[in-house]
Amino acid sequence: SSSSPPPAAAGISSCLLSTGVTNFSLPTSPSYTPLLDSSIRNLRFALPSVGKPAAVVLPSTKRDLQRAVLCARNTSLAIRVRSGGHSYEGLSYTTENHVPFVVIDLSNLNHVDVDPGTATAWVESGATLGEVYHAVGLSNRTLAFSAGSCATVGMGGHTAGGGFGLLSRKFGLSADNVLDAVLITASGDTLTRDTMHPDVFWAIRGGGGGSWGVVYAWKVRLVPVPDNITVFSVGRTGPAELIAGLMHRWQYVAPSLPDEFYLSTYIPTVSSSNGNHSMSFTGQVLGPKRLAMAVLSQTFPELGLAEAELSEVSWLESAVKFAGLSTVADLTSRQPGVGQFSKSKSDYVQAPISMRDAVKILRFMATAGPPEGSIQLDPYGGAMARIGSTVTPFPHRAGYLYSIQYGVSWKASDVDRADEYIGWLRSFYAFMAPYVTKNPRAAYVNYLDLDLGTNDWMNATGGTSYGSVGHAASWGERYFFMNFGRLVRAKTKVDPGNVFNNAQSIPPLYS
Ligand code: FDA
Repeated sequence: SSSSPPPAAAGISSCLLSTGVTNFSLPTSPSYTPLLDSSIRNLRFALPSVGKPAAVVLPSTKRDLQRAVLCARNTSLAIRVRSGGHSYEGLSYTTENHVPFVVIDLSNLNHVDVDPGTATAWVESGATLGEVYHAVGLSNRTLAFSAGSCATVGMGGHTAGGGFGLLSRKFGLSADNVLDAVLITASGDTLTRDTMHPDVFWAIRGGGGGSWGVVYAWKVRLVPVPDNITVFSVGRTGPAELIAGLMHRWQYVAPSLPDEFYLSTYIPTVSSSNGNHSMSFTGQVLGPKRLAMAVLSQTFPELGLAEAELSEVSWLESAVKFAGLSTVADLTSRQPGVGQFSKSKSDYVQAPISMRDAVKILRFMATAGPPEGSIQLDPYGGAMARIGSTVTPFPHRAGYLYSIQYGVSWKASDVDRADEYIGWLRSFYAFMAPYVTKNPRAAYVNYLDLDLGTNDWMNATGGTSYGSVGHAASWGERYFFMNFGRLVRAKTKVDPGNVFNNAQSIPPLYS
């Protein structure tokens, strides 16, 4: 009858029930769509045309999680693991080619256990960054965790792909601060740092989510911060030459500031009716206002920063501010806010862009662009440059001045213009080629971009699947450079049957 679940759903349902896992939702259940949509960040992948899972499982324990993996395998369903659901390409809750699948959603595995004495924490992968910051900041005003700024990003996917934030110039990525991890493998076994192969412990810290197994929890190093830190967000407006001048100068200043300083910049495509452009700066200084003023007025007088634009707050309050929230309690809210349709791409810059070219870039952004396009420039240098490029899979270290994130977003009312907006973003990316890293043109795996290439598992069987390693290198080397080969070896050790795969996962070598 029309009310009985489809066979794949019935199969996994009876397997889960027979092993005592009761918290899951099938397509016939009223809870299914709200649950599936609950952490879909990019509405492009919530459209009805996108294939839906046979079930969404919500493990409440590590044991449930192991059983969910085994039941998915028993019923020949592909596995998609979701922590915060912020994958730019929706890879945590979709499959290619309508391959039947199950979503294992870790949102109930969100416990954060802080040990202020040793300045460490065990964090379950389903915790959001906001939940981590809340637990860490309330345990001790002078402890922090180095990760990104959006509070609803999941610990699982974020740490798996690196995790860059306002503390990274001082303390590195989230992945650089992982001390141990609990990995559930394709056979349902539990591995920790002591029992997994060293290549696997290396791979899970920045080699991207979805390739290795399910990381159930991470043990992380917490980092020391002062009682009060200085924060600011300032906007500047003016003709293209003025804004290009600030952007040009920023490239020399931000990557070489002392490690205690973070200064990023965001430039939207919109220019005002009088032709003015705008740009905003986000700043964090691990020290008092007077230090911030002394250094920034000297190194970046063009910014014209005024002391009145700065405030001194605790690190936890700074996390509230940079997440765009109002109160400390808001950090634990999982409300995704207003959903949007979006597409992003990334680049890296090793040599500063000239003033002339900066003006060209601003002019490109102002002409015939979509309503909401932008670039975000994140400064590297400091600890990012001191950590070796093979210590973790994340290779963009010494010599990288900053990353560029290109973004375009639109609303539901514009959904039929999606191709036009994505097309604009691609043409902007093509235009930028002369100004960014080459051979390969680098990209950040947490800013996942399927334009760089995709696996074709449907056609990669037997002998030809060996060839898929060579194919995957074409984007894998852009995310990981020379680390790609070691990632393939780690994959071959931990998941030779390629149970954990997605459109850009690391392929195993077949013997
Ligand atoms: P999601 O659940 O979608 O997972 C992403 C990938 O990891 C998927 O392939 C998934 O299967 C896999 N995965 C998830 N949990 C896993 C687990 N426990 N074990 C194994 N694999 C797992 N990045 C950054 O570095 N700094 C920043 O400041 C930001 N800011 C930011 C803001 C916003 C609004 C968005 C949408 C994204 C960012 N990002 C970011 C990028 C973000 O780090 C990236 O999208 C992460 O992969 C998201 O992790 P989630 O767990 O939320 O995603």
